[in-house]
Amino acid sequence: MTEPAAPDLTSQTIGVLGGTGPQGKGLALRWAAAGLKVVIGSRDAGRAQTAADELAEQAGSQAGAISGADNAGCASAADIVLVAVPWDGHDALLTSLRDQLAGKIVIDCVNPLGFDKQGPFPLRVEEGSAAEQAAALLPDSRVTAAFHHVSAVTLADLSVAKIDLDVLVLGDDRAATDQVRALADTIPGVRGVFGGRLRNAGQVEALTANLIAINRRYKTHAGIRITDLP
Ligand SMILES: NC(=O)c1ccc[n+]([C@@H]2O[C@H](COP(=O)([O-])OP(=O)(O)OC[C@H]3O[C@@H](n4cnc5c(N)ncnc54)[C@H](OP(=O)(O)O)[C@@H]3O)[C@@H](O)[C@H]2O)c1
Repeated sequence: MTEPAAPDLTSQTIGVLGGTGPQGKGLALRWAAAGLKVVIGSRDAGRAQTAADELAEQAGSQAGAISGADNAGCASAADIVLVAVPWDGHDALLTSLRDQLAGKIVIDCVNPLGFDKQGPFPLRVEEGSAAEQAAALLPDSRVTAAFHHVSAVTLADLSVAKIDLDVLVLGDDRAATDQVRALADTIPGVRGVFGGRLRNAGQVEALTANLIAINRRYKTHAGIRITDLP
């Protein structure tokens, strides 16, 4: 069942760790454009504020408020926190934010990938996936995994009024995955679809290597759709 995800997000603040990069900025832009309150996080508060100012200008006057903070300030201020840093920085950043992220919904969109002469390939992760590593590092948080397959280029281009994409949302906490599905649904064209428990996140992260290979061959920004859902 893909019943519309019901939770109301208007009272929630969405934090984006690593929100100065293309993926975090793109999602922050779309969430702000949907009227949500967003806090951009960075290792440098000034860089976060600069990114927030740029996004506020791009999102327009109807958008939700966008501010910037260092990553710890972002995690503290937010109710729902997206992790949008490179795989290399994932472990150290989450370890440092365990207290600030306690009790919160954490969304991991990190794809542990390598690139060589043959193109992209999934890296082996001891915990099984980036999302499972996050869950191990953040025992007091409600860790989910989502937004692995969305193109940052498409997100940044507001002339793309509808993004043709299903966002697979994984996690062990039903209410948390419902909230994240609702967050996906705020982006026009996007549908949040429950994709299984967190132990199934590895293949969702790895599938990004296939999408990047498709993008390279066909010069596009491919996404996925799940068929035969009501
Ligand atoms: N790009 C996409 O289309 C896309 C799509 C789906 C998923 N993803 C995933 O989203 C994540 C972010 O992607 P991106 O392309 O936005 O990456 P990125 O530009 O390389 O990094 C995002 C931000 O993370 C911060 N950062 C860099 N190294 C860090 C470290 N060692 N520790 C802590 N923070 C660090 C930087 O911000 P500050 O210097 O300001 O701290 C940077 O602006 C990746 O894990 C990727 O797999 C990306």
